[in-house]
Amino acid sequence: MSVSQSAVHLINHLGRDYLRQALEHDVHTGLTSTPKWLPPKWFYDATGSELFSQITRLPEYYPTRRELAILREHAGDIAVRSRADTLVELGSGTSEKTVLLLDALTAAGTLHTYTPVDVDAITLADAARRLASRYAGLTVHAVCADFEQHLTLLPRTGRRMVAFLGGTIGNLDPAAREMFLKELRTTLRRGDTFLLGADLIKDTDRLIAAYDDAAGVTAAFNRNVLHVINRELDADFEPDAFEHVALYDAEHNWIEMRLRATRDMHVRVGDLGLHVSFEAGEEVRTEISAKFRPDDLRRELVAAGFEVNHRYIDSTGDFSLFLASA
Ligand code: AVJ
Repeated sequence: MSVSQSAVHLINHLGRDYLRQALEHDVHTGLTSTPKWLPPKWFYDATGSELFSQITRLPEYYPTRRELAILREHAGDIAVRSRADTLVELGSGTSEKTVLLLDALTAAGTLHTYTPVDVDAITLADAARRLASRYAGLTVHAVCADFEQHLTLLPRTGRRMVAFLGGTIGNLDPAAREMFLKELRTTLRRGDTFLLGADLIKDTDRLIAAYDDAAGVTAAFNRNVLHVINRELDADFEPDAFEHVALYDAEHNWIEMRLRATRDMHVRVGDLGLHVSFEAGEEVRTEISAKFRPDDLRRELVAAGFEVNHRYIDSTGDFSLFLASA
């Protein structure tokens, strides 16, 4: 029930079948590969989303604070430049930073629709309700979708700003990133804008600390993917028998998170009829998080057909926001 004039619509493009098949496919492919890997999108069930939210408040994890600082300073400018009436947010999660953009677009007088897009329906519905009750008159079209697969299903009307914040672009490897940017560009029309948050290359020790915090929250977040697989696919991983690993690959400029087996193990994934063996010390890659040189990212955006209108970098040089247009 809604007490304001705001409306919440939840569109689920995934459905249980889609999500389930994608998870089955990813787990099967990743765990039968050498070396083993799992895609980061499966971190984010309700528990994982909450753990990520805790990560954003850790002293070592600077990206969220830096991006917030940029938004606090420049959201007004971004809103005025974009003149968007529809804010589409890819990988919106708990939408914590979104209020700064929504405030600015409201002040600019252009906003009428917010479209958060996320794979986790529960997190998405919570955020949609929270924001609809905060902004009277705002229509929230929440879309449960996988931004790598479903860009073409996004709303086709209005003057849109697509926001992809937090540095999540870093989760895509270079080939997937190139495809994503090109595809996004083709779904946008003249006048639409793209707001991209990207983490920047910096001192390696600080980078690693951000993904290996003293309180162990990132370790719990990393292991959560095994809990998700246990629950969803009837597997019998012992998450505590895996050690959290964060390393920096200086050749590719990305952080890798891995889970390292602390002893030989046999794991059964019941719903896949799959048996997986781990040797002591064997690692499963669970995430890459690429870091950028601003000029390289600008070039990638231009190569994908965007015009880069503005680049915002926080005062410490840690994080960047790019405003590009179609
Ligand atoms: C949400 C993908 C931006 O890569 O920094 C945080 C996820 N992983 N700590 C990131 C994450 C470990 C985060 N992104």
